[in-house]
Amino acid sequence: LHTTINDYLRQYIRTVPDWPAPGVQFRDITPLLQDPKVFRVLIDAFVHRYMDPALRPDVVAGLDARGFILGAVVAYELNVGFVPIRKKGKLPFTTVEETYELEYGSATVELHADAVKPGDRVLLIDDLIATGGTMMAGKKLLEKLGAEVIEGAAIVDLPELGGSDRLRAGGLPLYTLVDFA
Ligand code: PRP
Ligand code: ADE
Ligand code: MG
Repeated sequence: LHTTINDYLRQYIRTVPDWPAPGVQFRDITPLLQDPKVFRVLIDAFVHRYMDPALRPDVVAGLDARGFILGAVVAYELNVGFVPIRKKGKLPFTTVEETYELEYGSATVELHADAVKPGDRVLLIDDLIATGGTMMAGKKLLEKLGAEVIEGAAIVDLPELGGSDRLRAGGLPLYTLVDFA
């Protein structure tokens, strides 16, 4: 018997040691997407929270690539638009860009310059928060265009890497479903 959604979802996250680099404990969310009941529980947790009129966004932004899987479904269910924040070199129109450090490397992300309007209230979604670099880069991109990021949401938080603390300290409220020490 599992008393919390945290314990329930945790069972469906697979840990792969030393991938993609030695010392990284990779938290793989694919088993959680593969089971339709579990996928529904997960999406419904986000939809339930962001249906609340106080938290309902104008737009959902998803982070390339795993954030697309969740963000598009949540946007569809909330009946709001979805905008992709992509790794550099993929978006065809005029973009804004931001470079950041990852647990295992560095990356640049881009957002179309017309993806959001000044004053839009945006929900930023990804699968996982490690160092917080990816989500912080997404927040900065959206803010460059004058949008307000109302919250960051992810399935997994790795609190020991300090990302969630840094993001909250940087003024981004967060909602995550599972913690891994
Ligand atoms: C992973 C994960 C998050 C990010 C978290 O993405 O999906 O986006 O790392 O790490 P951070 O908090 O330290 O930034 P990754 O860049 O590996 O690529 P993918 O989503 O395209 O698989
Ligand atoms: N992204 C950054 N660190 C990660 C980890 N440990 N597991 C899965 N995705 C990640
Ligand atoms: Mg990612």
